Amino acid sequence: MELSEVIRKRYSVRKYAEKEIPEEVMAEVIEAGMLAPTAKNSQAQRVYVIKSAEGIEKIRSLCRSAYDAPTVLCFTASADEVYRNPFEEGFNSGHQDCSIVATHMMLKAAELGLGTCWVNHFPRAEVRQRFGIPENEELVLLMPIGYPAEDSVPSPRHAESKAVEEVVRYL
Ligand SMILES: Cc1cc2nc3c(=O)[nH]c(=O)nc-3n(C[C@H](O)[C@H](O)[C@H](O)COP(=O)(O)O)c2cc1C
Repeated sequence: MELSEVIRKRYSVRKYAEKEIPEEVMAEVIEAGMLAPTAKNSQAQRVYVIKSAEGIEKIRSLCRSAYDAPTVLCFTASADEVYRNPFEEGFNSGHQDCSIVATHMMLKAAELGLGTCWVNHFPRAEVRQRFGIPENEELVLLMPIGYPAEDSVPSPRHAESKAVEEVVRYL
């Protein structure tokens, strides 16, 4: 599939088929993340693949937006490895790095017929505690991933596009 087609076809999947992701397919998704650029190539991201029955039950109990996906990815940024901008006190690239890595994985997943959803709305402190995520890692996002259910459809919001002129300014 052409990249432009992948970008057009992707939508947030919130209903999944009861089908595991084959290991080799997941490996391709992970590789796409590993090839993403990061600030100063710091690769400060950590990607937790939650797929055991116990892990899935736990994440679903903590986060409604895990939906019924067979696997949930949790992206964190290691505070010890993030790039710190010398021009801006307190700024680091952890969120940007994780976002690019997650976007690479999201698009690769779409190319392979998998669905994903970017999830921000989850209790970070509880997830950290219940999964034993180290204190030096900042939790950035969750991403349920799996084959879309046969009757999965994009939410109406998917089609709500602002006009280009509202978003893009030429200077
Ligand atoms: C930063 C970010 C946070 C999001 N958080 C959530 C979330 O917590 N739960 C959820 O169901 N969808 C979440 N979404 C998905 C958006 O609602 C969705 O991308 C948007 O409505 C456009 O729909 P589409 O992805 O189907 O094109 C999030 C997306 C982004 C980029």
